[in-house]
Amino acid sequence: MKPVGNLSSASASLVLQEVTAGYAAVSAPSAAPAAELREVDLHVAAGEIVCVLGPNGAGKTTLVRVASGLLVPWSGEVRLLGEPLAARSRAEVARVLAVVEQMQDIAGNFTVRDVVAMGRAPHQGGWMRATSEDDGIVDDAIARCDLLKLASRPARALSGGEQKRVAVARALAQEPKVLLLDEPGAFLDVRHQLDLYELLATEVKERGMACLVVMHDLNVAAQFADRVVLMKAGRVVAAGGVAEVMTWKTLKETFDADLYCGVNDLTGARFFLPMRGRRDAST
Ligand SMILES: Nc1ncnc2c1ncn2[C@@H]1O[C@H](COP(=O)(O)OP(=O)(O)OP(=O)(O)O)[C@@H](O)[C@H]1O
Ligand SMILES: [Mg+2]
Repeated sequence: MKPVGNLSSASASLVLQEVTAGYAAVSAPSAAPAAELREVDLHVAAGEIVCVLGPNGAGKTTLVRVASGLLVPWSGEVRLLGEPLAARSRAEVARVLAVVEQMQDIAGNFTVRDVVAMGRAPHQGGWMRATSEDDGIVDDAIARCDLLKLASRPARALSGGEQKRVAVARALAQEPKVLLLDEPGAFLDVRHQLDLYELLATEVKERGMACLVVMHDLNVAAQFADRVVLMKAGRVVAAGGVAEVMTWKTLKETFDADLYCGVNDLTGARFFLPMRGRRDAST
């Protein structure tokens, strides 16, 4: 594991320091539960996109839950904008941190616009009255996520990819300083996936947002990540720049799969192709 406890990490917008976390044992309640995150160190600074990659069950969603305060760590600390997350109220957290969850159910018969407008709630006080500024922010988020034509449709009646874009628009309407996204591109077609990451890159640079994205698409990560974190079995196994971390060897160790690693002549970006029948190829 790479040490990340340096000065730049200490002042980052989001810091996880030696975080160990898990869930209560479900199948055998009397047994001691297993940790799903083990001594995880990670930071995301203002103005950067950190991509978290790793196999199914590695603990990526658990990491997002801990970073957002939904799951309290057993040990270690989460710091949000320089303060312990545990010391902030849920309302305070919602004003600065937004989450696009891996599975997000839209309850009720809300329109797309209603759902996106919910992103303004943390800024509206007890009466939740929308100002013209709120309306402008909501309209802007809807336009940026290519939802103009869907704005008055019931959100529940949209396709999987369209619903993902609604969730992203709501998170952007929240105007967070820290944005956590758990596989936001999972159901998106190739154009909307590119649009989404271009949008995130713009938001991150223009607003100085700190963005942590969990994803499975290595090619997208290689093009948009300022830094990459590889996780396996609840641990961070590598963290750093794309060229440093996304090598054939580290990816094979992390995913137990052989990938052809190339460089795109047009852009200079790395790309990865899964190779059939080479799982047990010698290293
Ligand atoms: N609510 C829960 N209760 C008990 N165990 C859970 C719960 N959620 C996840 N786990 C377990 O924690 C481990 C890590 O799960 P997690 O959802 O964090 O993985 P992930 O890296 O996000 O995987 P994926 O790529 O499939 O989304 C898994 O072994 C999973 O079974
Ligand atoms: Mg997950």
